[in-house]
Amino acid sequence: MNIPRRIEPEWLDELPPGDPRAIKSRRDLRRINALMTNATCVARELTRSFRHGSPRTIAEIGAGDGRFMLRLAERTATRWKDVHVVLLDRQDIVSARTHEEFVSMGWQAEAVTADVFEWLAQSADRVFDVIIANLFLHHFDTARLTLLLSLAAQRARTFIACEPRRSGLALVGSHLLGIVGCNDVSRHDAVVSVRAGFDGRELSALWPATRAWTLRERAHGLFSHCFVASRVNSNRVAGHCGYL
Ligand SMILES: C[S@@+](CC[C@H](N)C(=O)[O-])C[C@H]1O[C@@H](n2cnc3c(N)ncnc32)[C@H](O)[C@@H]1O
Repeated sequence: MNIPRRIEPEWLDELPPGDPRAIKSRRDLRRINALMTNATCVARELTRSFRHGSPRTIAEIGAGDGRFMLRLAERTATRWKDVHVVLLDRQDIVSARTHEEFVSMGWQAEAVTADVFEWLAQSADRVFDVIIANLFLHHFDTARLTLLLSLAAQRARTFIACEPRRSGLALVGSHLLGIVGCNDVSRHDAVVSVRAGFDGRELSALWPATRAWTLRERAHGLFSHCFVASRVNSNRVAGHCGYL
């Protein structure tokens, strides 16, 4: 089924962070991530990208409350020590408990409250081993997304995204989230997210066209779409020594 891509506002982005419906919807997001198996997808791609070593610096853009990144840390922290994680979101919602859970695994988390475009455009000498986006890129139209990916390409050695797949099956799934107890905000945003999601090689087509990158893009599971960009020679990136 060829579904045209459509971007509409999501309610969770417009509710105040402390609103009870927003709090419940963020909790629903954990369950939705689990149903989509997005942490499995991203952890697998991380492990594949760092077969011979450990990332020292990871940034998640649109990180929300940081719980998705925590799931990734749980899967990898036994092998990778002393990782510095930046959790970037325009809402200030990373709890003290989440910070402590990162520390208990030997990682440090730095929560940054900013707009992704401003943050990516500033201090371009701060290059991360990995930038991750989970359920985030679909917020943006083609022009904004092209800008976002070109900025991210200047700040990352590896870029991994896991997004909603724009498919008939994912659309059906998004309409059924009431069955697992998701609230009105989550049910609305899930349908909007699938319509704004990705298919085919749509993200590869927007990544800066240069031979410096290897690109992979594929379906993951029933509802997700995965994109990975890796630098052919990561030493060419300015400031390769990690957290700058
Ligand atoms: C669907 S949530 C995903 C959160 C997290 N990645 C997860 O999987 O649980 C999208 C997040 O993007 C954030 N966001 C939306 N637009 C943003 C922007 N322009 N800059 C930074 N964060 C943004 C929202 O505040 C929200 O927390």
